[in-house]
Amino acid sequence: MNKMRRVGVLMGGMSAERDVSLRTGEGVARALEERGHDVVRISFGPATRGVDELVRAAKIDVAFLALHGKGGEDGCIQGLLELMGVPYTGSSVLASALAMDKLKAKELFRLHNVPTPPYYVASRSDLDDLEELHGSFGFPVIVKPRAEGSSVGVTKACNLSELQAGIATALEHDDSALVERFVTAMEVHVGVLDGRVLGAIEVVPKSGLYDYHAKYTPGMTEYVTPPRLPSVRARGVMNLAERAVRALGVTGACRVDLLVTAGENEYVLEVNTLPGMTPTSLLPKIAQGAGIDYGSLCEVILEGAKLHAGLPVARRKSKDASAPAHVSALPLSAIKRAAAG
Ligand SMILES: Nc1ncnc2c1ncn2[C@@H]1O[C@H](COP(=O)(O)OP(=O)(O)O)[C@@H](O)[C@H]1O
Ligand SMILES: [Mg+2]
Repeated sequence: MNKMRRVGVLMGGMSAERDVSLRTGEGVARALEERGHDVVRISFGPATRGVDELVRAAKIDVAFLALHGKGGEDGCIQGLLELMGVPYTGSSVLASALAMDKLKAKELFRLHNVPTPPYYVASRSDLDDLEELHGSFGFPVIVKPRAEGSSVGVTKACNLSELQAGIATALEHDDSALVERFVTAMEVHVGVLDGRVLGAIEVVPKSGLYDYHAKYTPGMTEYVTPPRLPSVRARGVMNLAERAVRALGVTGACRVDLLVTAGENEYVLEVNTLPGMTPTSLLPKIAQGAGIDYGSLCEVILEGAKLHAGLPVARRKSKDASAPAHVSALPLSAIKRAAAG
């Protein structure tokens, strides 16, 4: 691994997941520093003017994206870095945008025969005649903003008035809301690295719904690795996660959220292209189960940083491009072997 490069850890951002991003960023920056990387923290927020100037001033060779949600996970920052010629971690502009937009992601899942819960889309004008739009869709349903994360604005509705309130809540975060059939199921999150499954974790929220509170309040959710599934079923779930990732063209390290029913059905909810990476987040937990510690995971993600668009952009020279590459404590090949498991 080349430790001569200056790594900018981009964190904060302007989305509802800003706080999580700051924790992800600090965790990643510390881990990379501990492993001898030249790290600069690039923190920005809703009041920041000129993110490009901030990045330029930091004179970085590569960007580690510790951002989540709108502006950071949806292709925007990725587009900026493409134009600046700064390689970045995670997915391309297109794959990031597709995965962030739950409606477009579901359309692609359907096209690629990746099962996802039935749904419809509602916007503000639909609130006047919800009964007709909802028709025979039935209850309960889950209502969520079309493009958010961390369960922000996600609610469960069991009747029309709850549905009305749920859609209004989701619309506080987005112009349209997704109304999805509620699936009673085990929740499994699968970690994927460069298209190959790293492992999986079963998520058991005490309240029954893995909402923001359940995600970020210690003790509110139980995590079980590996998930309590028969091996054939577990393999099927992992295979489905890989197919979901392929359907969207997602690269790098990501996390796929799935529901696994007691019957025979499995559904993909979403693919997170920049999943939470605090030391206690799910992807690091999954990686730990595969024998990859937090620092090694950060390094392997960094190693995958690249430009995707093939633009003819003049790139800033590395401090010493001719210097020999330093090898990390756990070489990439060993990590890839562990991932292939
Ligand atoms: N169709 C559904 N049926 C049951 N639970 C769901 C459904 N959709 C979402 N959930 C619950 O809500 C959580 C958040 O939904 P998700 O689609 O993953 O959005 P986010 O991007 O906010 O994480 C899920 O982890 C799951 O617990
Ligand atoms: Mg999710």
